[in-house]
Order: sequence, then C-alpha cells, then structure tokens
Amino acid sequence: MQTSLDDLEPTLIEDPAAQTGVADAAPAAKRVFIKTFGCQMNVYDSERMGEALAAEGYVETNDVQEADLAILNTCHIREKAAEKVYSDLGRLRDIKRDRAKGGKETLIAVAGCVAQAEGTEIVRRAPAVDLVVGPQSYHRLPELLQRSRGGGKSVVETAFPDEDKFDALPERRPAKAASAFLTVQEGCDKFCTFCVVPYTRGMEFSRPVAALIHEARRLVDRGVRDIKLLGQNVNGYHGDGLDGHPTTLTGLIRELSKIDDLARIRYVTSHPRDMGEDLIQAHRDEEKLMPYLHLPFQAGSDRILAAMNRKHTAGEYLRLISRVREARPDIALSTDIIVGFPGESDKDFEDTLAVVREAGFAHAYSFKYSPRPGTPASTMDGQVPEGAKSERLARLQNLIDERLALFNGASVGKTMPVLFEKAGRFDGQLVGRSPYLQLVHADAGPSLIGKIVDVDVRSAGANSLSGVIRG
Ligand code: 5AD
Ligand code: SF4
Repeated sequence: MQTSLDDLEPTLIEDPAAQTGVADAAPAAKRVFIKTFGCQMNVYDSERMGEALAAEGYVETNDVQEADLAILNTCHIREKAAEKVYSDLGRLRDIKRDRAKGGKETLIAVAGCVAQAEGTEIVRRAPAVDLVVGPQSYHRLPELLQRSRGGGKSVVETAFPDEDKFDALPERRPAKAASAFLTVQEGCDKFCTFCVVPYTRGMEFSRPVAALIHEARRLVDRGVRDIKLLGQNVNGYHGDGLDGHPTTLTGLIRELSKIDDLARIRYVTSHPRDMGEDLIQAHRDEEKLMPYLHLPFQAGSDRILAAMNRKHTAGEYLRLISRVREARPDIALSTDIIVGFPGESDKDFEDTLAVVREAGFAHAYSFKYSPRPGTPASTMDGQVPEGAKSERLARLQNLIDERLALFNGASVGKTMPVLFEKAGRFDGQLVGRSPYLQLVHADAGPSLIGKIVDVDVRSAGANSLSGVIRG
C-alpha cells in the first residue's frame, strides 16, 4: 500500500524546508496533507492555505495516510508537472477508498494553476476529487470544503473574485525559518507566447505597500531575517504606496528596508523590460537589497525572442545586465532559459550558448520547451523533435555547470556574511546562505540559526560552499 506521496517530490522548489507539513499534531485534530508543486509562489500559497485551515482546527501532517484532507497545490507551467498531478490523484483515490473502509472520510482538493486551467476537466478525469480551487480563491477554502462535504458532489471554484484574498486570509503564523516568502504581486500581462501564467494567474495585480509592511513586520517579529518578495513579474510591481499613489518595487523595497530586524531583501521573478533605472540604482544604494538578481532571458536568438514575444533582444539584455553590474559589480545573476522553442535552429541555439558564455551567470534554470494548451506557441510551425531538445538541454546544462563552478570557485578565500538557516547533514554543522544565495556549510552550534555571521570560505563544491566561522 502507498504510505506517502514523498516519492513524487516537486521539481522546482529550491528549499524543501520551505514546504508545508508538520508532524507534531494533537490526536483529535483534523489533519491536512499539502503537497506543493512548482514555483516559490505555490510554496507561499500552500503556507497561507495551511494557515487558513489552521483557523478551522486543521493540523498539518506529512503522512497522507492519516490526512482527512489532502491538497495538491499544482503547477501548469510544463506538461510534466501537470501530468504528475493525475498520477498523484490516482494514488489519493486508492487511499480515500482504503480509509473509507475504516470509516474515515478523506477529502481531496486540487488547488493552484492546474485547478485554474483545467477546472471541471479535473473532476471528469479524477472523480474522487471533492474540490477544485483556483489560486485566487483559496481564502475561501474552509467554506468551499463545507460546501463539497454538504452537497455530496464536487465543487469547482476558479473565478477571479472581486475581493482581495490577502485581506480575507488570517494573520501569518509563527515563522518556521529565518527566511520567508512574501507574495507582493501576482499575474502577468506580458503574454510570452510559450507561457500559461497570464491565463492561470490572470492580469497583474499588486498588493498595497501598507499591507506588505504589516505582513513583513509579523514575519520579522517571529524571527525571519530574510524576505524574498515574490511575483510572476515582480519588478512590474505597482501597488499603492503609503501616500495612496502607486509606487514601484523600489519604493516598496525602501519602505521594507526601514524594518529594523529585517536584514535581507530579495525579489523574484523579473522581466528585463520592467528593470527600471530606479531599481538598478537600488542595487547600489539599498544596503539590505541582496546582490542577487534572477532575470530570465529565455533565448539568445533575436528571431526566437521575437517569436516568444519577449519584447527584448539579446543585445538589449546584455546591455541591461552590464548596467546592473555597473551599479553593483559583485551581483550574482541568475536566469531562465528555454531550449527547443518552435523554429529554433542549431544556429539559434548557438546564440543562446553565446549569451550564457558572455553573461557570466551565477545560476541558471534551463527547460525543454513544453507546448501548453491555449498558448500561441503550442500551434506554431517548426516544433522541435524531443531528441534535439534533449541534446540541446544537455549541452546547455554542461555549460551552465561550468559557469556555476567558476562563480562558486571565485568565492574561495573570501569572507562572507552568512545567514544560518538550519542544521547541516553532519553533526555540529549548520547550513546558511551567502548574500549571493549560495548554500554555505560551516561547523557551528544551533544557537547561530537565524544569525548572520562572517564565514571564511575555504572550498567550493558544485552546489555549495564550505567555510569556517571567523573567530
Ligand atoms: N515550456 C518550457 N519552459 C517554460 N517556462 C514557462 N513556460 C514554459 C514552457 N511552455 C519556463 C520559463 C519561465 C520559467 C518559470 O519556466 O523559462 O521563466
Ligand atoms: Fe510567463 Fe514570465 Fe512571460 Fe509573464 S513574463 S508570460 S510569467 S514567462
């Protein structure tokens, strides 16, 4: 019998510790199992769903077998992630049936972007599902669960409601870690031709600065030192400032910087077109803004970039990052790249490799193009065969690994302030993050968790650094 869904680890989450799921539950409580797929915004959403359900007496569990409610918070960005949901739903159906034999009710909910994109189709393919809830409606989870339980038939809620879900959600719980996510902006109006986000998350919406300061303060009061501001197009942020007029991401960062015990601010994901001069200069002027920028370029060929509707050329991208480097010479740049977009020739792919060589990325995520239903690129001529995509991805990943080794290698011999986040794999060891988001291991006692300490970096591996604490 299946005991957990752990073998189906989500693919894109950087920090598994950020996932929900706490085992120390009181015996009589209702239990909820939440599995998160996809991006960091889903991790944030899962936390907020957990909080909304905690207010209804639910306690989180890592063991799906004991869950009275199982939620899959899903990702629709590539086909593989979406299809995985259906295999998980098959397992959940069996668990629900087995538990029913023991007289226990199990509710199954599908949340997130697959819920938004496929709606009733999910219930048709997986009738054991009780509730389908889109990303804009999860503040209504308790009420929707009530409805699905009472009515005996599946409830599908994928509207974009007028009310602001963030206003309707309960206050943040005590933080689980020294770093936390904070969603400041949702949705995207850019309509890159490969991307489902404008369809699943809707048009751009920015939360007001006052609400974000309030939420950030609560996180900091509970021990958070590092906040990552999240948005599908975060540097397009245009929420109301404290004076009631719309402000920019820079304005928001300036206000958040005033929170005393907040030490580090990052933001993700940005679009090159929305990288304004004020934000570039903030990387020079704002001490708490970390020297790290995730700025996807997707492809190096101008022809492919135009077909992607990216609204920038390779040259413009490279000029932009050199302006960012002028403002903050040590900045760590990270990016997203797609290989095998329709019409991509070998020469186009070489142009992508050339940008990677020139840009000097500290980190890069690379993907094979995956046709998504309803997006313009999915019906374009010149779909690239799977074999060519795989070959290009392997070549690109080799190059990225080389660049990453160069970036990490250059850290050896330097002293860096490291925010320690948790115990390491070995006794007496802690793991933290450098300002450049590198993982850093050092021998240290647990009292340093949540503290920022200078570390002399002694060696660099493929994915992390090791060092000793400055005496
Ligand atoms: N196929 C492959 N990769 C995609 N991405 C978005 N849509 C697709 C798709 N259809 C990638 C982009 C984006 C990242 C979050 O996922 O690189 O920046
Ligand atoms: Fe998708 Fe990002 Fe393009 Fe928006 S900017 S459509 S989220 S890839």
